[in-house]
Amino acid sequence: MKISVIGCGYVGLVTAACFSDFGHDVFCMDNQEEKIKKLNEGIIPIYEENLDQLLNKNLKEDKLIFSLVNGDIIEKSEAIFIAVGTPMDINGDTDLTILYDCIQDIKVHLKKGRKKTLIIKSTIPVGTCENIKSMLNDNQDYEIDVVSNPEFLREGSAIKDFMNPDRIVIGTDNQRSIKLLKTIYKKQIDLGHKVIFTNIKSAEIAKYASNSFLAMKVSFINEISDLCETTGADIDEVRNVIGSDKRIGDKFLEPGPGYGGSCFPKDLSSLVNIAKSYGNRIEIIEQVIESNDYRKVKLANRIISKLNLNEISNVTVLGVSFKAGTDDVRDSPAIPIIQQLIRKDINLVVHDPMALTNFSKLYPNINTALDLYDAVRGADILVILTEWSIYRKIDISKLAKLMKGNKIFDFRNIYSREKIIIHGFEYECLGR
Ligand code: UGA
Repeated sequence: MKISVIGCGYVGLVTAACFSDFGHDVFCMDNQEEKIKKLNEGIIPIYEENLDQLLNKNLKEDKLIFSLVNGDIIEKSEAIFIAVGTPMDINGDTDLTILYDCIQDIKVHLKKGRKKTLIIKSTIPVGTCENIKSMLNDNQDYEIDVVSNPEFLREGSAIKDFMNPDRIVIGTDNQRSIKLLKTIYKKQIDLGHKVIFTNIKSAEIAKYASNSFLAMKVSFINEISDLCETTGADIDEVRNVIGSDKRIGDKFLEPGPGYGGSCFPKDLSSLVNIAKSYGNRIEIIEQVIESNDYRKVKLANRIISKLNLNEISNVTVLGVSFKAGTDDVRDSPAIPIIQQLIRKDINLVVHDPMALTNFSKLYPNINTALDLYDAVRGADILVILTEWSIYRKIDISKLAKLMKGNKIFDFRNIYSREKIIIHGFEYECLGR
């Protein structure tokens, strides 16, 4: 089947790579000329495991073509996926400018007498598909179906998530789209993956509700972890108990420095505002946002309380991406923690195996080290903020020799206390 994907960002590229690998002919379009040029040369603008190989393989096999938004392609595509960004605006609402501009671009290319299906993958407030439908169908010359098909891809495992989804959600109001989407997702359906058909508004809300629930789990375990710490309980034992209850589930119960990334913070804020705009309040999510903001203040203060006030401390931060497996620093908990640290008189060095380029764009004056052991040399305090596997595998005795001081804050619980303290370290982790 001929499919268009508009938006060569994170979701668009993964969608295009996977659909082309399933055997569809995919045209992936964007309005940024330089980006398209690079993509056609096989240069991928983001880091995502296996994306590079998958895109290049299908590009070589001509199953995938990158282009500027183009009328001929829109004309010959049976389905048009929209995967443009829907960032957060200054009021914490979802900014739909790029999406609506994209719809206007498509509209220009629609031909008389045609029926088309537009499938929205971008995360959008409830009611947006309805608005798009009326924007497009104000002209009786053509007939456009609009489907909501939210994505549930995690950065770092997006290809795996696309190929093996927990569920595929298709929000639609007509049989023609159901038939079309079943053909597009045939490979996954044949493999037994669950497809849930809903009405359009349910699909729109389900995406925000899923992310909000997961974020709520993270904030919940972070607060329980603090209680464990204060009382002498052990968060690993507690989460083993609660996670063994199938009604709760054992995922998303790892304490850490707070959730971050390009999705949870914006989606929670947007859900709260969407609810308010309909005269409802989702107070539980308002509290989650507050708890997550405070988490970073609290952890930064914990480090600051251990600074030696008589001299300038050398602090090394390991990990600035919002989680392991990505170079993304958007809304990373490391950012507000570092912002608080640099207000104090310290020498700061930052290390990350993937995210230093993105980090240095934000903080060009903060010292970074490309080599892990260079980063820790001379440090008084070591702070771990991302759970990268190279940090898990660190040579502790080498660390003890290279560091000047002996304080380790492990805010991802990647080490065991016993193995660390025998090297003379003062070790603080979360909830244990
Ligand atoms: C999230 C969702 O998991 C995806 O299903 C969704 O498609 C995506 O947002 C999106 O809306 O596009 P992602 O942002 O890649 O995916 O990150 P997650 O793996 O969900 O992690 C979010 C944050 O929670 C990270 O900062 C992570 O470190 C933190 N986290 C997660 C914890 O602190 N503890 C946990 O146990 C799990």
